[in-house]
Amino acid sequence: MCASVCVCVCVCVCVFTVSVCEHRVGSDPVPLDSSSRCHSGLKQLHGQQVTVHLPPNITGHWVSSSCEVRPGPEFITRSYRFFPDGSFQALQFYYQDPDCSEPSYSLLIRGSVRPLQASWLVRGGAVCEYHLSRVQLLCHGPKAALIQQRLQSACDLRQPLRPGLTYELWDEHFSMQELQLMRLERSGHHGDPSRQIEELFLGDVHTVRAQRRLHQPAGYQTPLQSAKAERCGVCRIVSSADLHHPPVLSARPERPVRLQGDWVSTRCEVRPGVLFLTRQLTFHEDRQTWTGQYEHFSDPVCRHPTFSISASGRYSRGAPSADIGGAVQFTFTVTHMTVTPMDEATASLLKVLRGRACGAEGSWQRGVPQDVTSTSGCAALGVRLPHTEYELFSMGQDPSGRSLLYNGQRPSDGSSPDRPERRPTSFQPPLIRCSTGQTGERRGGREGDQRFTLNASCGSNTLHGLVPLILLLVFM
Ligand SMILES: *[C@@H]1O[C@H](CO)[C@@H](O)[C@H](O)[C@H]1NC(C)=O
Ligand SMILES: *[C@@H]1O[C@H](CO)[C@@H](O)[C@H](O)[C@H]1NC(C)=O
Repeated sequence: MCASVCVCVCVCVCVFTVSVCEHRVGSDPVPLDSSSRCHSGLKQLHGQQVTVHLPPNITGHWVSSSCEVRPGPEFITRSYRFFPDGSFQALQFYYQDPDCSEPSYSLLIRGSVRPLQASWLVRGGAVCEYHLSRVQLLCHGPKAALIQQRLQSACDLRQPLRPGLTYELWDEHFSMQELQLMRLERSGHHGDPSRQIEELFLGDVHTVRAQRRLHQPAGYQTPLQSAKAERCGVCRIVSSADLHHPPVLSARPERPVRLQGDWVSTRCEVRPGVLFLTRQLTFHEDRQTWTGQYEHFSDPVCRHPTFSISASGRYSRGAPSADIGGAVQFTFTVTHMTVTPMDEATASLLKVLRGRACGAEGSWQRGVPQDVTSTSGCAALGVRLPHTEYELFSMGQDPSGRSLLYNGQRPSDGSSPDRPERRPTSFQPPLIRCSTGQTGERRGGREGDQRFTLNASCGSNTLHGLVPLILLLVFM
């Protein structure tokens, strides 16, 4: 039943049909060679059950589970309350530092929001419309003048800001486009309801500030968690804050950025431009080389592979970031690339390419990798080799103490950060370290190494033929 309902949601996209789609994630028998340690990074995906509700019932209190970095950079925590009648109260707390320990100003935004339809642009997401009714601003620190300067472009401030006073911000320059795209996920482990996690994904924020106001989200920010979440200390602090009492998180010691080893995605990631993917990156610090394995999928639970890319090259470490304490700049070059079409549609698309635009003309076959280094990359995928990207890396830790690696968010316009001035100021979802790559273990992602299957009872692939091959591929 679920399957047919979902087909309707995905294909008609006219109205929502209330449905619950369960995506069960089962694991293929995993080869137990040494590199299979990297599978442990995908363990969260194995044995996990993701439930997505369309339309999402977002009633409740949703909060940040960490200090979030937005492009700019901006450091923010969020506490959003959605009420059954469609109204909401959103608190956004802004900070001066990447630990969210020094509040600078807060916004209290009131309005209403309602889901409209399933998104065509981002499968698995819901498009919503919202209206704002009131926006209040309160500065906390002595840096009100600085904040004023910062906000001036976004809001029409007619008076000098003073700390401790509340101001009404009201003009057409303010928007909250993140409410236009949502996805509500419940995931848990079989037989353990206490480990159930509820996450609310809201639309991404454009990487260029001037574009934010009218930005149509095509990806997501770090998800918010239910304020009731257990085992989330930051959630508790954020959920009890109000406009006058912003959450103050504790400053953490800076973690040195060490890339060495193998790193994998912790979830099926969404990249603006309808790409769903998992990443596996390997770095050799001694040789300053890297390899990346990117598995692309047509669906939001990474079940239907479309194509896979292996890339490798060199990198060099640059200066520490001036804007984000603890983050470090890097420069990456991509010198080799292999493309594997994973379904017939992608193979056919690659096959019709003329000349030597992407591998040998007309030779593409499903499941057969082709080295496109000799054709200087793959024009159809928007990749010219050698290719250089300007990067920003930072390290973190998950609640169980495992190392996380954050690298730069890709520009929202789909371009590549191929110039220093396009270097990211915010991050993608983190990768988790699965091995340090120090011993003689086999390195890099071999095709099939990090495949996992999702048993999705409604992961219908009906849209697949309609989704164009994305011609904007970026690395990292
Ligand atoms: C949404 O969830 C809330 C509680 O979380 C419940 O009270 C409400 O009835 C639900 N709304 C719908 C339309 O199911
Ligand atoms: C997929 O899930 C269904 C329903 O839970 C189950 O009956 C089926 O055996 C599963 N298939 C696999 C391959 O795990």
